[in-house]
Amino acid sequence: MARILDATTPYLKQHGSDTPRLDAQVLLAFVRKCSRIELYTNFNTPLTDAERAQMRDLVKRRSQAEPVAYLVGHREFFSLDFKVTKDVLIPRPDTETLVLEALERAKTFAAPRILDLCTGSGCVVVSLAVSQPTAVCTATDISPAALQIATDNAQTHKVADRITFHEGDLFAAIPQDAQFDLIVSNPPYVPEGEIAELEAEVRNHEPLGALKAGADGMLFLNPIVEKASQHLVAGGWIALETGIEQAPLTAKALEARSNFTDVRIVKDAGGRPRVVLAQRKAS
Ligand SMILES: C[S@@+](CC[C@H](N)C(=O)[O-])C[C@H]1O[C@@H](n2cnc3c(N)ncnc32)[C@H](O)[C@@H]1O
Repeated sequence: MARILDATTPYLKQHGSDTPRLDAQVLLAFVRKCSRIELYTNFNTPLTDAERAQMRDLVKRRSQAEPVAYLVGHREFFSLDFKVTKDVLIPRPDTETLVLEALERAKTFAAPRILDLCTGSGCVVVSLAVSQPTAVCTATDISPAALQIATDNAQTHKVADRITFHEGDLFAAIPQDAQFDLIVSNPPYVPEGEIAELEAEVRNHEPLGALKAGADGMLFLNPIVEKASQHLVAGGWIALETGIEQAPLTAKALEARSNFTDVRIVKDAGGRPRVVLAQRKAS
């Protein structure tokens, strides 16, 4: 096993991976059906022919910029393990800022009713439901395949009984009179013109429908802001993940609506504007 790791690492580095040793370890652990630590406790165990062939195939795909999370079928987010396929965006550490901010607001309600628009893998709503055991959640996505993954993740983390999934376009997926204490969303927000500049790993492998959002990245954020107050109780909160350029535009759009107060932009762990928050006015 040591030899295969030593041979794979420089190969992946040469083919553009920023984390070649880690990638090689994760792929080998997947093939061996063990943890990364266990690779080192069984370092001298030879691979079977089938394992060698599977590893060769995975390394080839990784060298073509296929993300490790898709190759092994899962990714950690908010200290939970999420199933991922090519039908969903791979959960990003930056999105943990959205979950943390949403949780802070959710805790001010005894049994918060939470709506997660554009749920994808379900990483946001499942993390919220696990962390806030009294939460009752609704999650939507336009992609039925993504909703199936989100449902699987809700079942894995034993919160499926507190999350209702709906397929459809933003708020059109839920009843017109549905009311929530908290609306969260990490919608697509990459401007069309920036898609070509994304890393090959993202551009060529992740679903474009989870990324592309019109000329200025506001194609989904604007209608979410426009409709949100209709579905928020007085004193309820909206928390939206955005890109750097969309954060001030989203804050401005919320400020322009007379029924929101306390509009603020929160930075992620890397110091970039990432989440826009606002509270529904009391009347
Ligand atoms: C950026 S991904 C976010 C996924 C997940 N919430 C996360 O944070 O990793 C955006 C999601 O929005 C969904 N989507 C795109 N257009 C939509 C629409 N009009 N209505 C609802 N969901 C939509 C995509 O299918 C994708 O799953």
